[in-house]
Amino acid sequence: MKKIAVIYWSGTGNTEAMAQAVCEGAKAAGADAALLPVSAVSAADALGYDALALGCPAMGSEQLEETEFEPFFTALEPSLNGRPLAIFGSYSWAEGQWMQDWQLRCQAAGAALCADGLAVYDAPDADALEQCRALGAKLAG
Ligand SMILES: Cc1cc2nc3c(=O)[nH]c(=O)nc-3n(C[C@H](O)[C@H](O)[C@H](O)COP(=O)(O)O)c2cc1C
Repeated sequence: MKKIAVIYWSGTGNTEAMAQAVCEGAKAAGADAALLPVSAVSAADALGYDALALGCPAMGSEQLEETEFEPFFTALEPSLNGRPLAIFGSYSWAEGQWMQDWQLRCQAAGAALCADGLAVYDAPDADALEQCRALGAKLAG
């Protein structure tokens, strides 16, 4: 069974709701999926999984959250080559540039992204949660 970690940072719960749905989708597709706040894992822990789904909202000025998530991702980045990966997160002030920039970083690191980064405006509605489940299922497939 494929071991997947869904690792996220969320300030007000929007990306957390997405992460829960990604995890549900991965489990429904047969994976052994764990839902983990980024504060609970190190990059070394993350590398123990077969595939990773990473969630972070747009923070700062179109950036990843700088205190916990950015240091985690920076530590993980050199080990992403060939690694199955999905990325997702919520935004509400701009147009989603942070997700485009994040996806480029993942591609430059050689990650095997299973889909384009999933950026959802504000709180995920039913359609967005379905997209999150589909993303989790795709990563598990
Ligand atoms: C300090 C701070 C910085 C933010 N910066 C951006 C930004 O650069 N672009 C954007 O679209 N939204 C920005 N937002 C809005 C959040 O991305 C949005 O509220 C998102 O839904 C929060 O997700 P969360 O509930 O998972 O924390 C910012 C919010 C905060 C509190």
